[in-house]
Order: sequence, then C-alpha cells, then structure tokens
Amino acid sequence: MTRLPSKYFDEQQYAKSGIASYELVYGRNFISPGGKETSAEFLKVLGLQSDMKVLDIGCGIGGCAFQIAADYGANVDGVDISHNMIEIGSKRCDEQGLEDKVKLYQGDCLEIEYDTLYDVAHSRDVFLHIHDKSRLFSVIRNVLIPGGLLAFTDYCRGEGARSAEFNTYVRQRAYCLHTVDEYRDFLQRAGFVDIKTEDKTSDFLQIHKRELDRLVARNLNAEGLDDLIRGWRAKIVRIKDGEQRWGWFLARNPG
Ligand SMILES: C[S@@+](CC[C@H](N)C(=O)[O-])C[C@H]1O[C@@H](n2cnc3c(N)ncnc32)[C@H](O)[C@@H]1O
Repeated sequence: MTRLPSKYFDEQQYAKSGIASYELVYGRNFISPGGKETSAEFLKVLGLQSDMKVLDIGCGIGGCAFQIAADYGANVDGVDISHNMIEIGSKRCDEQGLEDKVKLYQGDCLEIEYDTLYDVAHSRDVFLHIHDKSRLFSVIRNVLIPGGLLAFTDYCRGEGARSAEFNTYVRQRAYCLHTVDEYRDFLQRAGFVDIKTEDKTSDFLQIHKRELDRLVARNLNAEGLDDLIRGWRAKIVRIKDGEQRWGWFLARNPG
C-alpha cells in the first residue's frame, strides 16, 4: 500500500513556499478549508474542557492546536510528518507563549506509539494523504482513552463515476479519497461506536468561493499565486460537479 515519506511532503505539496501560499488563502497558521473560522465552528461540537489532553493528527503549522489551547485551555500534542510544518509551527507556538500547553512533534501518525492516552484525537483534512485507513483508525483507537472522541474533517469523493480530470487531480497529489459512507464503514470496522457523519459539501463550496474572492481581491503578486487561483477555480468546478465532497466525522472509542 502507498506510504508517503516525509521528504515527499517537505519537497512537494508542503515545501516552505507552498505553505506560505496556503496561508495566503487560509489565513495565518492554518492549512485547511475555512481557516480559523471553520476550525472554531468544528471545535464547538467537541465538548472540549481545560483538563483534557488532545492529539492533533497532521497538525500542520499549529493553527488548530493553538486555538484548542487558547480557547479551551486543553493541553495539545500535535504530530505532523512534515519537518517544515513542525519547524514553522514550533516557532509560532513560542511566539504566542503557548509552549506549556502545546507540543508539536515531527512524525508519521501511522507510527504513533505514545505512552499518553488522549481524551480527544482531532484532525483537519489530513487523512486524504493516508492510504492505509484500517491501520490509521486502529492506531488512533490505541491512543484514545476508553470513551475518547475521534473528530476529523476530510476531503471525500462523490459516489458516481469519476472524470479523467478528477482522477488526474487525485493521482498528481497521491491522495486517497473515499465517500462519506465508506468512512463510516472504516470507522465501524475499526470498532468505533456512536459514529456521526455529515456531508458538508455545500459549506465546502461556499468556503472555496469566499477564499477565491479573497485571493483575487488581494491582487497580490506573490510567487505561485496564479497557480493557486487556477487550483481554486478547478476545485470549485469539481465540487459543483459532485466529484469532490467534504465530510465531518465524530466517533467514540468504546468505553
Ligand atoms: C491539509 S494539511 C492540514 C494541516 C492542519 N491540520 C491544518 O488544519 O492547518 C495536511 C497535513 O497532514 C500532514 N500529514 C500527511 N500525512 C501525514 C502522516 N502520515 N502523519 C502525520 N501528518 C501527516 C501534512 O504534512 C500536512 O501538514
């Protein structure tokens, strides 16, 4: 099964220049749809409390982890396979004085073998990069306390046949996309309970339209911006065609 090494992320999609471009779209510290605003909306439904320990899987440059610590007072460990992400995120963590609450580690989440058990495993738009979903969900169950919550959002695909353009998009980025219902099956097979899935594609479309408008309006001359704008326009077409979708997922470790 495809397994992508850290070098792949650091040198391709998440090279430092790529991270800077993504921040122009998503806002400071965020590399996922809707940036800080969407993150706040997602976190609201997790029942986070200040005595909880949260694992942020694929934490990127730390936006969600910082928000969890600052807004809810919880302790957060973030793990990301990209050295670039962890280098930038660790600096930003210190700048904000959050180093007592947030620790960011470089590593592959499929290899997590921590002594710590977490109340919540949180992840925003990361699992699209991971091909071995069975292993992923089994590893996550092992780091959650009994009754612990897994909460993630992810890029998904539609149910129907896929166009050549969509297949090229997925292949070029080495993504592994599933339907919202397939994710439910993975979670069930891994032994999670209280599974809640929500197709949030209409929000995904609105978010991408807003982000595109913002990018165009800023009229920046930054390197790679034209590619980014082209990419956002193409993504909006794929979403409207129903090929690209977005899911929100909650599931509990039995306890
Ligand atoms: C779209 S970014 C999302 C970053 C962050 N969650 C956010 O919302 O800003 C996807 C992240 O997943 C990370 N990633 C991909 N595969 C991973 C793996 N096997 N283990 C840990 N992180 C991984 C990438 O390096 C990247 O930082």
